[in-house]
Amino acid sequence: MSRRAFLNRIAASGGYGAAYSAMMTMGLLPTAARAGPLALSPQTGRGKSVVILGAGIAGLVAAYEMERAGFRVTVLEARDRLGGRNWTVRNGSRIEMNGEADQTVSFSEGVYMNAGPARIPSHHEGLLGYCRKLGVPLEVEVNSSRSAYIYSETGNGGKPIQMRQGVNDTRGYISELLAKAVNKGALDQDLSVDEKARLVPFLRGYGDLSEDFKFKGTERSGFAKIPGAASQFGERRAPVPFGDLLAHPQLGSTLFEDSLYMQATMFQPVGGMDRIPAGFERAIVSPVIRNAEVTQIRQREGAVKVVWRDRTSGVSQALDADYAVVTVPLVVLAKIDTNFAQPVKAAIAAVPYDYSNKIGFESPRFWEKQQIYGGISFVGGETSLVWYPSADLHSERGMLLACYGSGPRARGFSERPLAEQVAIARGVVGRLHPGHEGDLSKPVVVNWNKVPFSLGPWPSFGGRGGQEGHIDDPNYRLLNEPHGRVYFSGAHLSQMPGWQEGAVFSAHRTIGLIASRVAQTVAVEPPRRAALAAS
Ligand code: ALA
Repeated sequence: MSRRAFLNRIAASGGYGAAYSAMMTMGLLPTAARAGPLALSPQTGRGKSVVILGAGIAGLVAAYEMERAGFRVTVLEARDRLGGRNWTVRNGSRIEMNGEADQTVSFSEGVYMNAGPARIPSHHEGLLGYCRKLGVPLEVEVNSSRSAYIYSETGNGGKPIQMRQGVNDTRGYISELLAKAVNKGALDQDLSVDEKARLVPFLRGYGDLSEDFKFKGTERSGFAKIPGAASQFGERRAPVPFGDLLAHPQLGSTLFEDSLYMQATMFQPVGGMDRIPAGFERAIVSPVIRNAEVTQIRQREGAVKVVWRDRTSGVSQALDADYAVVTVPLVVLAKIDTNFAQPVKAAIAAVPYDYSNKIGFESPRFWEKQQIYGGISFVGGETSLVWYPSADLHSERGMLLACYGSGPRARGFSERPLAEQVAIARGVVGRLHPGHEGDLSKPVVVNWNKVPFSLGPWPSFGGRGGQEGHIDDPNYRLLNEPHGRVYFSGAHLSQMPGWQEGAVFSAHRTIGLIASRVAQTVAVEPPRRAALAAS
């Protein structure tokens, strides 16, 4: 059969959506770098069943879309809540971590901490599309504040530098140097006369240079004396010496907000990131079984059998489905009894996971009295940053995130006793905001490597951690392929393992693969048999 005839048959039986996913699978359409809405016909999965392992974002997207595409869907979730790493803790939440005493959160009414994802870029259209569709109200997440700081014990004599000063003084000095180089003729090989003539005046504006192209400080970096009424003239701050900026361990953090994933405008759901799983929960009609810890996966002729144990009763049950979508993190999946082929088992077991820690405190909003409304101060070290809340401005109390670190340093930090982690985080806030150490109460520690059913924030394919990037290694490729009737899916199999959008992309791809497989099966069956099978 020709490719065209094949696609026509798929379109005839499965509709446009099936043909579209078949074309994607056959590599006939460019894979657009956006997780736009899926358009599968409600007939796509008629008569077919799917079991989805894990009710994180990938599992929820798969359940939502596949039940609408006519599949019979069952979701198994090991926790007693939906969302996976999308987890908001508030008053009464219990935090269980392997090897640690349970923590019970005692925040005041309205105070919460997003223990996992806490921001959504405006280019994550897939996830934002679900927020729109599911009626999850969003608000702006203020991801950067020029009133926040860079801080290091060893930088600028241990005095915090305000972000606006770090950014603009650095830019001023670099502009001066570049103007000097151009005016000296040092770049004559690289720039035409016209380009030079245009660049120099641009640099004057870019760096806020004086008429003689010197950087003498800029109002952009803040006032030493605030301008007021009548003759209360403003005075700009003296610039931080260039050498001190260059020597500052956190200077690079002034570029954080320029990273594509961190650029304004960013969003958060009103009331906590877990409003997204709550939205899916409202919309999904298929059974989503909680406390269902999967203990065994068996591929058999014509079906996948999944055994799970009810964590509350201890009773085990099994179900058969035509397909399984397995969104369980690889580090957790590696411990489940399966009959996967050896290379697949080896790939699952080979992928190490990264480390990530968050520590939140409840506190009166002292930072707002220091002109900080949202955004982040970068402090380096084991705790990495201090992140201020974006919502409920000018209310009494808020959650101050006093540590959010990932990577190798996060590993060592997570090995410290929880009380020591809390003391370190508190100490950094005290040095950054002298006098406010004592304002911090009700600490909450999340070390993701100890969180059951996650055991880490994101994988580290090829030994490289990373929330996003060019991820491509043999294990990644193998696990992105269907294994019989089993489809591995989740942010860990996307180019954005540390973003919910990665879960949306991966789920959509998985759904497309299954839809086109089902369509192909239907397309090659004689019409009468297909009709019978679907009844
Ligand atoms: N992408 C996550 C973040 O925003 C990990 O930090």
